[in-house]
Amino acid sequence: PRVLVLFGGQSSEHAVSCVTAAGVLNAIDAERFDVVPVGITAAGQWVRPAQDPRTFSFAGEGLPRVEPAEATVQLFSGAAGSTERSAQLLEIGADGSASSLGEVDVVLPLLHGPFGEDGTLQGKLELAGLPYVGAGVLASAMGMDKHFMKVAFEAAGLKVGPYETITARQWADDPAAAVERVQGLQLPVFVKPARAGSSVGITRIQDWSQLDQAVAEAQKHDPKVVVEQGLVGREIECGVLGGRGNARARASMCGEIVVHDGSQTHQFYDFTAKYTDASAADLSCPADLPEEISQEIRRQAVIAFEALDAEGISRADFFYTEEGEVVINEVNTMPGFTPISMYPQMWKATGIDYPELISELITLALE
Ligand code: DAL
Ligand code: MG
Repeated sequence: PRVLVLFGGQSSEHAVSCVTAAGVLNAIDAERFDVVPVGITAAGQWVRPAQDPRTFSFAGEGLPRVEPAEATVQLFSGAAGSTERSAQLLEIGADGSASSLGEVDVVLPLLHGPFGEDGTLQGKLELAGLPYVGAGVLASAMGMDKHFMKVAFEAAGLKVGPYETITARQWADDPAAAVERVQGLQLPVFVKPARAGSSVGITRIQDWSQLDQAVAEAQKHDPKVVVEQGLVGREIECGVLGGRGNARARASMCGEIVVHDGSQTHQFYDFTAKYTDASAADLSCPADLPEEISQEIRRQAVIAFEALDAEGISRADFFYTEEGEVVINEVNTMPGFTPISMYPQMWKATGIDYPELISELITLALE
């Protein structure tokens, strides 16, 4: 099959996506898959990448990014009435001339955050009639929304940490009531945009006097804000792989994010810690947990996957609290996917290495 690999994108996780693309394009089984890499610029233009995407990394100067180009790549669904699940890729030059880049059979959207992982791109691919790796429209949209995600988890019987949501209307019409609700939580709290990724726009506050500013910061990214009570515990993650309609969902071994104590710069596992400061945190996989806790987290990861109606890939993030409770934090429907990211590491520990994992995800999408 011919695989359209999409990367970059309009979210704050553009650079992360570029590095993921490098990992995938270097590892994908070239005998089984014919790959067409297409970059999405920060402004949303689809382009044939000027730089070989296999060379993207965090090691160089500045963050990797997809450069804008004169010609734009566009996706056209198959001929009217066609039942074929494939679509044409055309490159449209600045002068309006079109050249065909051929057909594609399946899409691997290696995109994180808004306009990539949130259901919008998935809707475009649905309209084009193309199968794609990962969650569909609804699951992607819920997985991007820290509010609705919790609602779905609670409805599925999973335990979520104490939180409050502040909508733009509530903050504008009656901020005092919103503040009062939020102050029912215990400090410290994390103030987050409801829909963003890689910890952007998040403030950890230890004093209620910081709330206004933290809400303003989160609102730069999303008018809806979620305030979560800080949980003391270990950060444990679990990967899920599943077929269409979340059939045969399988959970990986668990992994743990070990944030180094005494870090002056990183109060939590923030964007810099995640991607640019390798010394800020370690991934430990498999996590050193009592067997029954590990089994319980794996069981809950599958329930969370199903609660969102996810497909293909997802990573569920939990806290294992000092009281011995398992609390779900969130699910990422397109988790970090560089070869050293947690999701591939957890599957490696489970017996599926990175190239095989990529093949498996594409195969599941084509089912
Ligand atoms: N949003 C980042 C990529 C993650 O969850 O891994
Ligand atoms: Mg996340």
